[in-house]
Amino acid sequence: DGFPASRLFSQGYSYTYDDVIFLPHYIDFPTDAVSLSTKLSRRVSLATPCVSSPMDTVTESSMAAAMASLGAIGIVHSNTPASNQAALVRLAKSHKIPFNYELIFKSPSDSILSVEEFSSSPCIFVTESGREKSKLLGTVKKSDWEKLADKEVRISEYMTKSPVSLPSSYSFEDVAGYLAKEKLDFVPLMRDNGEEGEDIVNLVTSDDVERIQGFPKLGLPSLGSDGNFLVGAAIGTRELDKERLEHLVKAGVNVVVLDSSQGNSSYQIEMIKYAKKTYPELDLIGGNVVTTYQAQNLIQAGVDGLRVGMGSGSICTTQEVCAVGRGQATAVYKVASIATQSGVPVIADGGISNSGHIVKALTLGASTVMMGSFLAGSSEAPGTYVYQGGRRVKKYRGMGSLEAMMKGSDARYLGDKAKLKIAQGVVGAVADKGSVLKFIPYTMQAVKQGFQDLGASSLQSAHDLLRSGVLRLEVRTGAAQVEGGVHGLVSYEKKSF
Ligand code: XMP
Repeated sequence: DGFPASRLFSQGYSYTYDDVIFLPHYIDFPTDAVSLSTKLSRRVSLATPCVSSPMDTVTESSMAAAMASLGAIGIVHSNTPASNQAALVRLAKSHKIPFNYELIFKSPSDSILSVEEFSSSPCIFVTESGREKSKLLGTVKKSDWEKLADKEVRISEYMTKSPVSLPSSYSFEDVAGYLAKEKLDFVPLMRDNGEEGEDIVNLVTSDDVERIQGFPKLGLPSLGSDGNFLVGAAIGTRELDKERLEHLVKAGVNVVVLDSSQGNSSYQIEMIKYAKKTYPELDLIGGNVVTTYQAQNLIQAGVDGLRVGMGSGSICTTQEVCAVGRGQATAVYKVASIATQSGVPVIADGGISNSGHIVKALTLGASTVMMGSFLAGSSEAPGTYVYQGGRRVKKYRGMGSLEAMMKGSDARYLGDKAKLKIAQGVVGAVADKGSVLKFIPYTMQAVKQGFQDLGASSLQSAHDLLRSGVLRLEVRTGAAQVEGGVHGLVSYEKKSF
């Protein structure tokens, strides 16, 4: 039955994930026996094969810390000055707790006049200078401030003095235990900077503890040899990016992604050679590529991982604007078929909108999937929620959209020197999805069930079954795709008569 992948993908068609379907194979193990542990790049291993995309509406420190706590990894975007990007990497790496609040500081002589000054935080920190990195004198709890009759009085009159804090090296379990024992609503976490003193880097509330304790648990977190979260970051291929790379290396970045929509360029090859020579210990991911020719060039230049996808992202318009790209299923299969021969892991980037797409990407040869829209709209994504048509949404934008390029991301689309900027992406919004700490474990359980149906107990065994032709595929007709989705139902409203 069906076709081996080698035959299906050599007929001159460009297939997307939805175009193809695997035929089930033989099951002789339980779902929990499936291991999804994998490699992001030659020397970076992960327990969970997921990567958050370097986009300014997807990955900053909250997302990077949350992804690492799940055994996955986040790649911090570069659409911000180098020093700020390095600070985001440092912040994510300084956490042991997979979330962070926007920390708000005031001085004792200030007043808090509006609730908006709390932003989304449950408290305001009062420090000597009114800024971060200054001695902590007290805290103001939002609920206490709300009860205050005269909002004009100085903070020093009503703040809680000498608040307790914990070291930022404490694990989630340690902090949860402390909050319960002391019956506290929240506790700040402080980092000891030696002679420079301490600064507040995070805040944990008892509500967070209750919320997170109810989430399903995934495998081991992604930790580096220093015991800190693994965090990646993106850079471009311009001369200035060499300086950015230096900032990131100093911040302790664990892997760097060369962020370009068409990676097979002299600029990228020059940057790979420079980075490999300057930082031989650092893993470097090249891309994006969709053909074996592109992949071979970057492998030869020395990349440790390859990012695959052109125009398959949910916000991409590259295929329409530039007439280049490839269906993502074909691109992943073709690139992986040569990259694996050189031991270079492949990241299937873009076009993931359900767990079935992840099963397809990983089985077709990818070692990880990179996601933008699937993670945007989560509580860990940057930005605030707004209500639109009665729905809670967060902004999600392509890095090639005019809006993002105006902020500096145009180098990814080689438009930096062009006087006329041409958009290769759009701006939109995605619905509130809750926390990645909750929905990624569910998604991975669904992926494991897919692997079980294929008779593959690991990524390696899925790749072997595919390459040997044991696993078979077919192309789905339009009607088969409709049949494979929910169809023929009207909405059911339970009414009692
Ligand atoms: P998803 O489907 O996960 O895709 O939302 C995320 C990936 O899309 C790429 N990307 C873009 N591609 N124009 C493009 O053609 C853009 O503006 C753009 N922004 C992001 C990128 O590879 C990302 O990981």
